[in-house]
Amino acid sequence: MKKILVVGSLNMDFSIETPRIPVPGETIMGTGVKLVPGGKGANQVYTIGKLGGDVAMIGAVGDDSFGDMLIDNLENVGVNVEGIERISGGTTGQAFIPVDESGENSIIVIGGTNGQVDEAILKKYEYLMDEADIVVMQQEIPLTTVMAAKQMAMEKGKTIIVDPAPAAAMPDEFWDGIDYIKPNETELGILIGKELSTQEEYKEAAQEMLRKGVKKLLVTLGSKGCLIVSSEGEEFIPANKVKAVDTTAAGDTFTGAFAVALSQGKSEKEAITFAQKASAIAVTRKGAQASVPTLEEVLASM
Ligand code: ATP
Ligand code: RIB
Repeated sequence: MKKILVVGSLNMDFSIETPRIPVPGETIMGTGVKLVPGGKGANQVYTIGKLGGDVAMIGAVGDDSFGDMLIDNLENVGVNVEGIERISGGTTGQAFIPVDESGENSIIVIGGTNGQVDEAILKKYEYLMDEADIVVMQQEIPLTTVMAAKQMAMEKGKTIIVDPAPAAAMPDEFWDGIDYIKPNETELGILIGKELSTQEEYKEAAQEMLRKGVKKLLVTLGSKGCLIVSSEGEEFIPANKVKAVDTTAAGDTFTGAFAVALSQGKSEKEAITFAQKASAIAVTRKGAQASVPTLEEVLASM
């Protein structure tokens, strides 16, 4: 089994149950709030650990109780947490997530110590990248660090997976040499600076990313499924039919499950099928890391 490193964010999620998402200027009554471990990087590393991967993380939390809870949760699924820096006096990242009755959400992140994951931290734990075969990144830590991590991973010949969320425009050279990017349709539009709505437009945008040097795109389309685009062509793989109650971390579960399946020698197509099974289960449950299934549950649904 190949080793995986995730470089990214950790947040404590305040998952708020609400009949609907309020519009600007409106006050509404919610029906409950729960603290759930989250953060895009942490959700991905948690998924990889829970599904049996050999995985480490580079990131940062404060020396507060949320930091303790987030690290404990990752350790419980076997994640190597030695690269998660405890920043003295820092405040762990937090996310405020109203989830409506149809399972849709909006997210506001207060980055806290995620904003302090700098190149010095990356250098300090560079040995974790040396040990890894696959490096997974998102865009919820400073983009300068994401760029440095990508450069470092490329120079070391690693397989690079980027989940470009929260989506931010990056210099063209950033994309060159990345093995897989996993944008959803909105994020893909942000990467190329256009609003997209049809499969034709997604395909054109994906071609633009290939021209920037990305080797393969896995464009996730929520309940519709996933479009794979590479220089060899395109293929659409439909999602599994389930009743969603909370889509928080569907994409993170997909990315983590895809990475772990690749690390275990599965083909890309098998890895995507596995990832869509895992994320379909995740959307039937509430919360971020709390919704990630076990390996047995995913295999039973295959
Ligand atoms: P998020 O930002 O909510 O974590 P995302 O926008 O990055 O997710 P999506 O495209 O919403 O990612 O979902 C990723 C994958 O999860 C999809 O390709 C699909 O397989 C699965 N999925 C998401 N929503 C549903 C759903 N309602 N029913 C079944 N599968 C779903
Ligand atoms: O992708 C879902 C995650 O986005 C949440 O867990 C939240 O912390 C934000 O980072």
